[in-house]
Amino acid sequence: MIETNNNNSRRILCVGMCVLDIVHVCNKYPEEDTDRRCLKGYWQRGGNASNNCTVLRNLNTDCEFLGMLSESPAFGFLHDDCRKRGIRIDNCPITAQDPPFSSVLLSQESDSRTIIHSNSNFPILTFEHFKKINLSDYSWIHFEGRNPEETLQMIDKIHEFNRNHDANIKISVELEKLKLELLELASQSDYVFLGKELALFMGWQNGREAVEKVQNLFPNRKRGIICTWGSKGAYCLTETGDFHHIEPCPPREIVDALGAGDTFCAAVIYGLDRMKLTLEKAVELGNRVAGFKLGHCGYDDIRQLEPEKLFM
Ligand code: FRU
Repeated sequence: MIETNNNNSRRILCVGMCVLDIVHVCNKYPEEDTDRRCLKGYWQRGGNASNNCTVLRNLNTDCEFLGMLSESPAFGFLHDDCRKRGIRIDNCPITAQDPPFSSVLLSQESDSRTIIHSNSNFPILTFEHFKKINLSDYSWIHFEGRNPEETLQMIDKIHEFNRNHDANIKISVELEKLKLELLELASQSDYVFLGKELALFMGWQNGREAVEKVQNLFPNRKRGIICTWGSKGAYCLTETGDFHHIEPCPPREIVDALGAGDTFCAAVIYGLDRMKLTLEKAVELGNRVAGFKLGHCGYDDIRQLEPEKLFM
């Protein structure tokens, strides 16, 4: 039985990847072709959607991860970690292939996090897998933007469900990967999270330009668009077309920047779906939770936060 802090019986589903993160904390980013020791090293479950779930559970809400998992015994801890935390994984398909993994360097000197990701043709989650889930279990479905062909079919199915059942499952998508085709996913979603890297790749110079350009690309549908811009904070265009800039909440000292973006997305979704905040307030919550995470190692100290009290 999963305990939650509210009466919302439908849960949040995050669709994407579950990977192994091997983290090295270094005093500074190493020079090429040197042999150095790090200050500390550890591994943890990662992947954007899997991190979103970790944060949602630490905010004490019922959530589920949907993505391809590996049955390789060496990586059994990825499933165990989900189960231990009460992240549901019952609907995930399983393959015998080893999961993708990332080598992560956290530099104390520059506060950077450098990720080298390895994914050798790990099978993707397809629409055939997705169509087996019972959509009435969910209030919100978030997609880590990838595999647009499959993902668009999944999103269509949710719209069809909403129409036929008079339901209102909200759909959000995170656009982070530098692929033009992914922008199409924005056209069908209620909320779009846009990364700074993708915005710059598109030639958009700042957060305001980025959210406006996304809206102009698909003017036929009103949606919430959110763009984070590092130390400049976050920008959003609300469902009714109002623009807001929300200041960041940096910690006194940055300890761990890995997954700060995933933390932000999860907290915004929590604010919108569970707390029924306006988009502007939900983005403020996202900045606060992500800022707190930056000052702490991993995601578990987020349990200390009480989001409901932040807005009393
Ligand atoms: C952080 C993260 C890591 C993972 C990498 C995949 O956002 O999800 O956990 O290794 O990105 O790109």
